[in-house]
Amino acid sequence: MTRDDLKTLIRTVPDFPAAGIQFRDITTLIADGRGLSATIDHLARLAPPGTASVAGIEARGFIFGTALAARLGVGFIPVRKAGKLPVETIGQDYALEYGEARVEIDPTLLSPGEQVLLVDDLIATGGTALAAAQLLRRAGARCDNALFVIDLPELGGADRLRDAGIASHALMDFA
Ligand code: PRP
Ligand code: ADE
Repeated sequence: MTRDDLKTLIRTVPDFPAAGIQFRDITTLIADGRGLSATIDHLARLAPPGTASVAGIEARGFIFGTALAARLGVGFIPVRKAGKLPVETIGQDYALEYGEARVEIDPTLLSPGEQVLLVDDLIATGGTALAAAQLLRRAGARCDNALFVIDLPELGGADRLRDAGIASHALMDFA
């Protein structure tokens, strides 16, 4: 399946979770077996050589990040929403297109200088991905690359990541 084929599997829901938001819903993509498998194929081709682990952002980043890590044969680092990890964490607050949140990681899961590939379903403002990358860097890892299934380029997230020294790719855009 091409990236254009995958784009047809995304469902757009108007006015969710707030008026004026065009919600790009990946549940229709992941419910399609060929679509899910092809998505992981495309992401795996974009993974930089030397990737030592994949970090995925709760919740939708867990779906693609875990499958990609398994495909690459590397470990998966969960970037969790606040209050979920059972150990001492480091955390970062951030603003979303439609609210505010906080992500946390267990820094002991990372080795110094380890090259971590950040993965999420979608980048909008980039606030979530930047917060996650900052956490991974604070834990001593390198985070210079990020992959997304969907980019909303008008919200500028990929530009913000580039300014922070993170090269990103997405399988499709919604303007
Ligand atoms: C969505 C999406 C990204 C983030 C992108 O997650 O999965 O993580 O928003 O937005 P940003 O680039 O403006 O930060 P959401 O917080 O809705 O959580 P979910 O994955 O638990 O549904
Ligand atoms: N996360 C942030 N903005 C989003 C959107 N428009 N659709 C789906 N997830 C999102």
